[in-house]
Amino acid sequence: MIGGSGLQRLLAEGAGDELDVATPFGPTSGPITVGTLEGTPVAFVARHGSGHSVAPHEIPAKANVWALASLGVRAIVSSTAVGGLRPDLPPGSLVVPDQLIDQTRIRSGSDAVRRDTFYGAGVVEHLTFADPFTPSLVRIALDALAGIGETAVSPATTVVIDGPRFSTRAESQWFRSLGGDIVNMTQYPESALAAELGLGYVNLSFVTDTDAGVAAADVDEDAVDASRVFERLSRAQPRIVAAIAAIAAAIPDDVAVSTGIARDAIDAVLALAPRA
Ligand code: ADE
Repeated sequence: MIGGSGLQRLLAEGAGDELDVATPFGPTSGPITVGTLEGTPVAFVARHGSGHSVAPHEIPAKANVWALASLGVRAIVSSTAVGGLRPDLPPGSLVVPDQLIDQTRIRSGSDAVRRDTFYGAGVVEHLTFADPFTPSLVRIALDALAGIGETAVSPATTVVIDGPRFSTRAESQWFRSLGGDIVNMTQYPESALAAELGLGYVNLSFVTDTDAGVAAADVDEDAVDASRVFERLSRAQPRIVAAIAAIAAAIPDDVAVSTGIARDAIDAVLALAPRA
């Protein structure tokens, strides 16, 4: 599990073991809590760190995904806060996206903090990324949410931006015209990195605000604003925890996912020496 803003912990205080996992890509966002959730073995990391001190563009996505894979995780359930790009997706809506549009400037080989591939330096793999969210897990998530009385919007497309700033009105309207339903800062490169290590990936998005291009130009109480986003997230925390727990519990322990990456390429990445 990778918990987004508003989801700093999943297991009860004191439950599970907190591990500091060294990776070839430096430290993870924070300790990884390993335990069981309703009988399902889980590993949890807070994407923004335990004290919410890691900004979206600074998230060590490669370290987080590598650490989870090295612990034997087979599928990642991620939670994120998102802005709504449609008037019918008001704050409080839940969305399980099935597509994304990468509008980040993260590129492998650039000097950006966030790089978007484990491959290169002699190991050549071209990820098939037509379905960035594992279709079988999307179905499991929707059924699990229905089982606890939650209705999530799906299919839906996320536009992922670098942040940490929110979008201009024109950018936001353009994202909508591209077919985006929600906008977020972290679902990429996390989803692609998970697939590169052969892991399933499914996301639960919680709409915290109406993005700039949809909200009225005058003061709109749903409009995006960081303090509103965090206030709404903190009120919704019990609901988000229950939803993530239901999804995790519904994924079979022996879930089989193939993302098309050759096993020896995955093993080569997992064999890289951790950095102290
Ligand atoms: N996360 C929460 N709300 C957002 C928005 N409007 N844009 C980008 N990321 C967000």
